[in-house]
Amino acid sequence: MLRRVVEFNGIRRLPFEQYRDHVQQHYDGPAGAVLTMASMISLHEPLIGHLIRGKKFDVSQRKSLLDVGSGAGQVLGHLLKEVDIDANFVAFDLSQKMLRRARLRVKDERPNFISGDLMQLPFADESFDCITCGWVIEHLPDPIPGLKEMGRVLAPGGSILIMTTEDTFAGAMTSRTWKCRTYNRKRFQEACVKAGLQLKAELWFSKIHRFFRMGGILVELTRDDIRAITEDETTSPNSDSTPDLATSR
Ligand SMILES: C[S@@+](CC[C@H](N)C(=O)[O-])C[C@H]1O[C@@H](n2cnc3c(N)ncnc32)[C@H](O)[C@@H]1O
Repeated sequence: MLRRVVEFNGIRRLPFEQYRDHVQQHYDGPAGAVLTMASMISLHEPLIGHLIRGKKFDVSQRKSLLDVGSGAGQVLGHLLKEVDIDANFVAFDLSQKMLRRARLRVKDERPNFISGDLMQLPFADESFDCITCGWVIEHLPDPIPGLKEMGRVLAPGGSILIMTTEDTFAGAMTSRTWKCRTYNRKRFQEACVKAGLQLKAELWFSKIHRFFRMGGILVELTRDDIRAITEDETTSPNSDSTPDLATSR
């Protein structure tokens, strides 16, 4: 009950045409300026490093990487340390200010910094063998168009890492602070499947996080080509309407 009161619900009500302005204003402003510090205080950034260095999400053999919603480069910085020098990187974000902050922080010549919306990725099909998307998809009113876009640009054999805010009390606090929504774990995984992706692994930052079921929803996804083709053939173009992915209210 308290969680529902605390949670920010604005994003669910925003039409798709308006959520971009909402996100841009939020991250271009003071929220974006304190994001790096907040990631350190919450241990969020070191925990991502632990996950990637420890190969729970293994990027070591990847050659073409897309970091969606790079923010201040919290995921990107770790990817750059773990991947071959000749790999290609794209850091992608709706907010150009955030991309500037990321560029200043990572101090690395390799990434291309590209601004845009994850629901319309400006890349050809199957362009990347690794996609990371940390704490971004909770900014969409509905995750399925974004998940489908990531599936489209993922090469066969590639993997996607998604980290997102769960509908716990801590998640509701996060949603209030960062003006985003939360997801119910089971419903989010169902949305991934509906978007043509397959759950390869459910990840946790540590055993403690797993035991207390905290730290958010972390999933490794691959393409589910058979399901995607079947659904495309049987689904009408206007059937994108999706169930509310929050816990039933
Ligand atoms: C909380 S920050 C996450 C930063 C970093 N990925 C991390 O793990 O800490 C969310 C970022 O996602 C970006 N973002 C939100 N919605 C987006 C969208 N639809 N397309 C691209 N970027 C988006 C915001 O501008 C912001 O920089």
